[in-house]
Amino acid sequence: MIHRPRRLRRTAALRAAVREHRVHLDSLIQPLFVVERDRDAGPISSMPGIARQTVDQTVAECRELASLGINAVLLFGIPAHKDAVGSSNYAPDGVVQRAIRAIKAALPETTVVADLCSCEYTDHGHCGIVDANGDVKNDESVALLVKTALTYAACGVDVIAPSDMMDGRIEALRSALDAHGYENVALMAYSAKYASAYYGPFREAAGSAPAFGDRRTYQMDPPNAREALREIALDIEEGADIVMVKPGLPYLDIVREARDAFDVPIAVYNVSGEYSMLMAAIANGWMDGERAIDETLACFVRAGADIVITYFAKDYARRHK
Ligand code: PBG
Ligand code: ZN
Repeated sequence: MIHRPRRLRRTAALRAAVREHRVHLDSLIQPLFVVERDRDAGPISSMPGIARQTVDQTVAECRELASLGINAVLLFGIPAHKDAVGSSNYAPDGVVQRAIRAIKAALPETTVVADLCSCEYTDHGHCGIVDANGDVKNDESVALLVKTALTYAACGVDVIAPSDMMDGRIEALRSALDAHGYENVALMAYSAKYASAYYGPFREAAGSAPAFGDRRTYQMDPPNAREALREIALDIEEGADIVMVKPGLPYLDIVREARDAFDVPIAVYNVSGEYSMLMAAIANGWMDGERAIDETLACFVRAGADIVITYFAKDYARRHK
């Protein structure tokens, strides 16, 4: 007897009936860039279709996203002022703090996730406090994150997502949040975050490229896989509710291994460089955009991601509502 797997690929209805994985809008998170100064708003040249927006524009964007079925956003702030310790990051009236309050007031059902890191707020562009030798000091940097996280929590944020890769920050954040009565604020840890060239467009978007050196002493070395599982295990032990693998496409093996090894929700970040590569190819007519985007998002789900953070969320929702 000849086995004929093609039988179930014959019609669209048969293919749909045996499809193993589907992308749900509930699993998608749209990242948003929020500016403190009006004049910093506008399109991002390296990320066609994505813009920096004022707080008011961000609320309008969240409303549109909600009408399309996207009920979760990840906020990045672009402050007016930068200094050595990133003090605008913990300002009670800082740009992310204002955005959280405005979104939660207008759209209480939208999940507001705030990225937590110092690099958009420091004048040197590193993800923490730098010493005289240019090294990023771990525990001092964690203390700074804790200070900022408490201000986000005070504004009603749903989820805090530390993206700095300092050691011990999940434990420090969890205990500080709990001690201040914010035990319901969830932590989505950027656990396996690699020192990747794929963040290039983001650093233009957020103006957060390091002024000297790079992030290799805190973000992970790309060829490492076992270490990713160790980082994830540590974050779960320290109290992370959701763990993340980042970037996405070149690291789907890590997503799969994490899914098989742990029972907490796994998020994957389809980062700026992955977005820009695809958009550039689509703009050149080298690929069918809709098919390429749909295939990409489906592959994250197939690899085992429960949550997909992607700049394509809105476009996907528009086409699949
Ligand atoms: C901040 C942060 C970065 C990204 C998310 N949070 C940049 C970096 O670590 O340099 C990257 C997101 C993207 O490329 O889309 N630490
Ligand atoms: Zn950072």
